[in-house]
Amino acid sequence: MRNLLKSGLRRLVTSAATQRPIGDRHATILAVAAQKGGVGKTTTSVSLASALARYHGKRVLLVDLDPQGHVTTALKAHVRPGGGLMSKVLTDDRSGLEVMDIVTSTDIENLDVTPFDPRLAEAEDLLSTRIGKEFILRDALKVTRSHYDVIVLDCPPNQGNLTLNGLCASDSVLIPCDPSPLALKGVEALVQTITAVASRLNPDIDVMGVLLTRVDGRNRSLNDTIESDIAERFGDAVLPMRIGINSSLAKAQVEGRDIFAFDESSRGAQQYRELSDAVAAAL
Ligand SMILES: Nc1ncnc2c1ncn2[C@@H]1O[C@H](COP(=O)(O)OP(=O)(O)OP(=O)(O)O)[C@@H](O)[C@H]1O
Ligand SMILES: [Mg+2]
Repeated sequence: MRNLLKSGLRRLVTSAATQRPIGDRHATILAVAAQKGGVGKTTTSVSLASALARYHGKRVLLVDLDPQGHVTTALKAHVRPGGGLMSKVLTDDRSGLEVMDIVTSTDIENLDVTPFDPRLAEAEDLLSTRIGKEFILRDALKVTRSHYDVIVLDCPPNQGNLTLNGLCASDSVLIPCDPSPLALKGVEALVQTITAVASRLNPDIDVMGVLLTRVDGRNRSLNDTIESDIAERFGDAVLPMRIGINSSLAKAQVEGRDIFAFDESSRGAQQYRELSDAVAAAL
């Protein structure tokens, strides 16, 4: 019976995976996640991924797990047409797709992305019905990760199935947090989730750190209060570099260019480059 099942399965599952060449790399998978919206997840994902590709010679894949599709918007001047649907990878067993089958390239050397997919909103719900729903993305990255040095996952602003899949697939989580009490609460909730994921689902997951973003240099007293709250709660996990408010970051996003193409000398570019130096050193 067992053998029958095995050979039957082998026939039924057309394993595109076995035809895919295995690469000689082993990507570190880094989720950029935060529960609160608008704290700079996408800005951080896009800037970090571009910096690792541009300045550190890393082969990088940026995966958009957010139905809002902001990765494609933020890089629209660079992204080449093509690629497929991430929702199909996550919800259609018969497709046998790996993430690498649906990526598209950019004109930034060494940087690939997964394209905008509004159907990810449905995938969020459909994932609930799938067996082993937490591990679908991890499994779909098995061959893919052998072709990249780093895979950055831009997560949506909630702790739904897409974020959970991101956490279960990741080696490490970077948590952007703006200096606001709500963002701080969000970090606490996410850290609790990561702790649960580490104990039940993905024992290898680690927190790379909490990254303070959108820090307004003019509002010292608020910053100081929140920063000391954050330091008290998360101690060493708070990264030493900060990302200040910098209008070039917002303008670059509107133009669909990464900050290094838009204005390499801006403060935003310098600070994200500093972050990329630290991440590259830790890979
Ligand atoms: N350091 C910064 N300085 C100025 N503007 C910024 C900075 N970081 C992000 N922004 C702007 O703030 C807005 C929200 O940023 P972003 O899209 O990166 O947040 P997000 O956490 O991904 O949001 P969402 O939760 O909707 O996915 C964008 O318009 C972006 O251009
Ligand atoms: Mg975003």
